Amino acid sequence: MLSLNQSPSKLKWFVILFASLIGLASLYYTNELVDSLADREQEQIDLVAKAQELVVQVEDSLMLNFLVTSILQGNQSIPMIIADGEGNPSESRNIKFKKNATEEEKDNILREYLTSMKAARSPIEVKVSEEWKYYIYYENSTLLTQLKYFPYAQLSLIAVFLIFAYFLFSSSRRAEQNRVWVGLAKETAHQLGTPLSALMAWVEYFRADQSVEEEILQEIEKDIARLTMITGRFSSIGSIPDLNSENVLEVVEGVTEYLKKRISTKVKLTIRASKNAKLYALINKPLFEWVIENICKNAVDAMTETGGKGSITLFFSSDRSQKQLILDITDTGKGIPQSQIKTVFRPGFTTKKRGWGLGLTLARRIVEQYHNGKISVLKSEVGKGTTFRIILATSE
Ligand SMILES: Nc1ncnc2c1ncn2[C@@H]1O[C@H](COP(=O)(O)OP(=O)(O)OP(=O)(O)O)[C@@H](O)[C@H]1O
Ligand SMILES: [Mg+2]
Repeated sequence: MLSLNQSPSKLKWFVILFASLIGLASLYYTNELVDSLADREQEQIDLVAKAQELVVQVEDSLMLNFLVTSILQGNQSIPMIIADGEGNPSESRNIKFKKNATEEEKDNILREYLTSMKAARSPIEVKVSEEWKYYIYYENSTLLTQLKYFPYAQLSLIAVFLIFAYFLFSSSRRAEQNRVWVGLAKETAHQLGTPLSALMAWVEYFRADQSVEEEILQEIEKDIARLTMITGRFSSIGSIPDLNSENVLEVVEGVTEYLKKRISTKVKLTIRASKNAKLYALINKPLFEWVIENICKNAVDAMTETGGKGSITLFFSSDRSQKQLILDITDTGKGIPQSQIKTVFRPGFTTKKRGWGLGLTLARRIVEQYHNGKISVLKSEVGKGTTFRIILATSE
């Protein structure tokens, strides 16, 4: 199978891998940092506890108070509450209260904090004497907490950046591809124009001559007409095509008449329409004919493997509101495996030896971008057949 975008996809995986490595490295580094900071905070708390045990041996109560407050104030970052054995808070540090909070409100907040601190880790016991013990409750400093979440924030940012970059990259690549193939189509149409008009002039020249059989001239004229039609398609796809309200069934009939003469007689082509089906839609005739031709040719190809016998049915109907023209093209070919149903419209996807994998890409582009319609595989069963569905807005 041919794939037109092999190397960019490799690059994509490389970028993703590289970004993940950066992410993991940053996660690892920050984790190390968090661990060492947590150790230091633990040491600081231990130190506070030890100092308090020593301090209470000081006799002078004024002095004691002074020392306790200084030790507590030495801690600038770790939220800490000192409470007795029954969980009544007496002192706190680095806990934020509302402005103008009353003593009662402060006490309530402290108790709430105590409960959550208690749940997170056991407090440090400070044993002053056998009867007099108190407890230091604490939690991670805000710095430590922030640092813990930092790598995740960082990773999310990298991810957002990558997604953004990817979309930017792929859409600019798509725009470039579009320009190339639209330009190519236009140029081809332009180049074909001159020899075509020359050929038409030659036919007229030979007709005047009388020595050339009329039948041969008519055959040449048919080929010229076909070439003109192809040129018309190429030039329509290279510019914004005109849309006209047409009877789509009649347009499709024109295509099938043309195809019938060229495909095996073992393939039966039928057009049907449901009662009251709306048949008019705004279409560009040469381009829409191209779509039908591509789909029917695929259907014929799908039958060659099974002996080339089968039928293609083109069925017209409308939705209930009559706003949509629905065309279902059903064949009795080999079917599309479930795993390929989504891939058949991809440029370059083909299962044929001499296929380009462009027929359905073109069909989708014509239906969806130039006609604002929809094309999809309605259903397909391996060994039984496939139905493609085209939906257009009705115009009358
Ligand atoms: N009616 C169908 N039944 C079974 N398989 C189909 C049918 N239509 C399309 N496919 C599958 O989808 C693939 C892509 O179709 P597409 O028309 O885009 O390219 P292609 O026919 O292979 O080449 P080309 O560019 O010449 O049209 C086909 O190769 C075939 O495997
Ligand atoms: Mg095809």
